[in-house]
Amino acid sequence: MQRSPSHPNGSTSESLPTSKPRSIDPSGPELRKFFAPEVVFGIGALQLAGQYARNLGGSKALVVSDPGVVAAGWAQQVVASVEAAGLESTLFTRVTPNPRMDEASAGAIVYAEQGCDVIIAVGGGSAIDCAKCIGLLAANQVGLRALIGIDNVGAPMPPTICIPTTAGTSADVSQFAVIVDRDKKRKRLIVSKAVVPDISLIDPTTLTTMDAFLTACTGMDALIHALEAYVSLGRSPLTDHHALQAMRLISSNLQKSIDEPNNLDYRSNMMLGSLEAGLAFSNASLGAVHAMAHSLGGVLDLPHGLCNAMLLDRVVDFNYGHAEQRYRDAATAMGIEVDGIGSGEIRKRLVVELRRLREAAGLRDTLSQRGVHRTEVHELAEIALNDPCVVTNPRQPCQRDIEVIYEESL
Ligand SMILES: [Fe+2]
Repeated sequence: MQRSPSHPNGSTSESLPTSKPRSIDPSGPELRKFFAPEVVFGIGALQLAGQYARNLGGSKALVVSDPGVVAAGWAQQVVASVEAAGLESTLFTRVTPNPRMDEASAGAIVYAEQGCDVIIAVGGGSAIDCAKCIGLLAANQVGLRALIGIDNVGAPMPPTICIPTTAGTSADVSQFAVIVDRDKKRKRLIVSKAVVPDISLIDPTTLTTMDAFLTACTGMDALIHALEAYVSLGRSPLTDHHALQAMRLISSNLQKSIDEPNNLDYRSNMMLGSLEAGLAFSNASLGAVHAMAHSLGGVLDLPHGLCNAMLLDRVVDFNYGHAEQRYRDAATAMGIEVDGIGSGEIRKRLVVELRRLREAAGLRDTLSQRGVHRTEVHELAEIALNDPCVVTNPRQPCQRDIEVIYEESL
């Protein structure tokens, strides 16, 4: 079943004009749009997978997951829900933590051979990004390399349901699909309204099987989504609201959810924080932390959230003078005292707090401890400088700026 062109997700993201029309009050807000899938949030949402797949007109679902999520039991619960709704299913789990183009191609072959007509992704960003790319391959007569960049997707994905099992990537609501081109050792971004799923079923219960390291990496990723969206040049009042609420929720619940992994209040707050961060960054885009983390993830295959966390405080320090009021708001949202405090001191407090959050969560490694060598910095910076996320960073870095941040993070 192919989605009709009139489907709400059926067109790619139209580029907005970069300057204001003259007939509009020049002091008014710039044009911005906000796009999101249907969201069902709450305990038990995962069990609705079959019902929603049927509502979308599906008869056979490709359930895309990964071995860790299968071991946790969530993928089987989705399959059971699909079968209980009277649909057939095929489970595809050949997905690695930084999913690759060849894995998506293998999934697309299974999708076609098995006669699937709906995709259900259950997992973290890896499974969801891979599922999105499988959907793009199923719908488009070109390879993924032809779809890289912003608004380069022709046909939308088949009907797609996402069920996140981490509070981090928010790929389940975002206009981003991230995939590794192994030939070139690069993480590639496909940015389009066409990769926003139809429905996200967000069930905080799924977070209870994450270990402390995964909780920390994904939680820091979500916090960075919110912070980068809030200072992004593509931000808007609609994304600001979500970004600030995400920072409040994540900064006050990350450590608690690591200390008490089965506490559903903390897990729900983290899941909500991740969702809000996702709604913000999907529409405002990101910044230099993600540009540099994508480079690391492609060249060295390191965990995405960890890469972000290792770079965060130094990028904030680099950007600070170009978005002082924004970082002041962010500090307030994270519970840092700013009243009557000078800008230089707020900068210091924010950088220290971001580092403290990361280290308290157990992420104490430096880049060199994770295998990054000084000789690789030039290439890493070159790749980061060409990442789409760098465009909306509040301060435009040069090659040497990025090299220095990597070097200081070694
Ligand atoms: Fe991220």
